[in-house]
Amino acid sequence: EMSPQERAFQERINASIKVEPKDWMPEGYRKTLIRQISQHAHSEYVGMLPEANWITRAPTLQRKAILMAKVQDEAGHGLYLYSAVETLGVTRDQTYLDLLSGKAKYSSIFNYPTLTWADIGAIGWLVDGSAIVNQVPICRCSYGPYARAMVRVCKEESFHQRQGFEIMHTLSRGTAAQKAMAQDALNRWWWPSIAMHGPADDQSVNSAQSMAWKIKSQTNDALRQKFIDQTVPQAEFLGLTIPDPDLKWNEERGHYDYGQIDWEDFFNVVRGKGPCNQERLAARNKAWNEGAWFREAMQAYADQQEQTEEL
Ligand code: 3HC
Repeated sequence: EMSPQERAFQERINASIKVEPKDWMPEGYRKTLIRQISQHAHSEYVGMLPEANWITRAPTLQRKAILMAKVQDEAGHGLYLYSAVETLGVTRDQTYLDLLSGKAKYSSIFNYPTLTWADIGAIGWLVDGSAIVNQVPICRCSYGPYARAMVRVCKEESFHQRQGFEIMHTLSRGTAAQKAMAQDALNRWWWPSIAMHGPADDQSVNSAQSMAWKIKSQTNDALRQKFIDQTVPQAEFLGLTIPDPDLKWNEERGHYDYGQIDWEDFFNVVRGKGPCNQERLAARNKAWNEGAWFREAMQAYADQQEQTEEL
């Protein structure tokens, strides 16, 4: 049963009135947002690692400059999102320590390795492509700070997606070896990219409540289908083959049918047992530990400034 306060809150949500940090909100709404936005922030931040792996080996100076800018954009997205989490009453340090200890989740997709340069193309095309499909609806979510952060994030993600597609386009029109490299990257990234949208609707424990609160507006399966439908013609344009023998246009549904996702692999990765989970967390812990002297120096300076002001 809803309390009168909860009912009034739900009515505002139904009327599409944004919720702002100082407004009253049900504890469950706050917790759900902290969970989702912090996972999202961690994903941006951990997501820098697989791509940064190729900065030193990008094939041209121009590619290197673009990739550096892209990885830096992801850091920026992490910062907007960590700020949005803070508006819900948790400290940035606590949020961050939950990532470092392995307590917090982040997207499964960033636990796979980037083995060749083509992986940078495949990530931009498929992973950022998936991220956009997921994030455009969040620009209209009920929580103001999250919705507003997503507007800029989506603009930048669109650029990332194009740069990834352009890498794939160049490789797929290159030598036989380059085309094979692009195909191999598509083979390895396709299934993780469609699993990334989250468990199938009947396994998605949070969807119903999140949709009632207008945090989510579409289910995991609906967004997955949308991504697949828009990506198949792009693969055809590239002359590459999506590694799914069951992928077929369904005239009646007006959508592509697709094969079984390996959910066991997905949940394994979510539980910390993917190919790169340990490496990713180790890299983030190393950065945090090696930055300790800098945080201490910043704090010492801030304390000194405060004392000077008091005088
Ligand atoms: N990886 C890891 N965990 C996942 C997951 C994934 N791909 N998909 C779902 N899960 C987890 C959920 O977090 C949830 O666990 P929890 O209850 O312990 O938090 C559980 O699986 C059940 O899933 P639900 O469908 O019930 O969970 P949600 O309703 O939260 O839906 C979601 C999952 C669609 C990912 C949603 O949280 C969401 O839209 N999040 C915001 C977007 C986001 O975080 N994207 C991550 C990628 S960011 C990115 O790609 C950046 C780009 O620049 C590269």
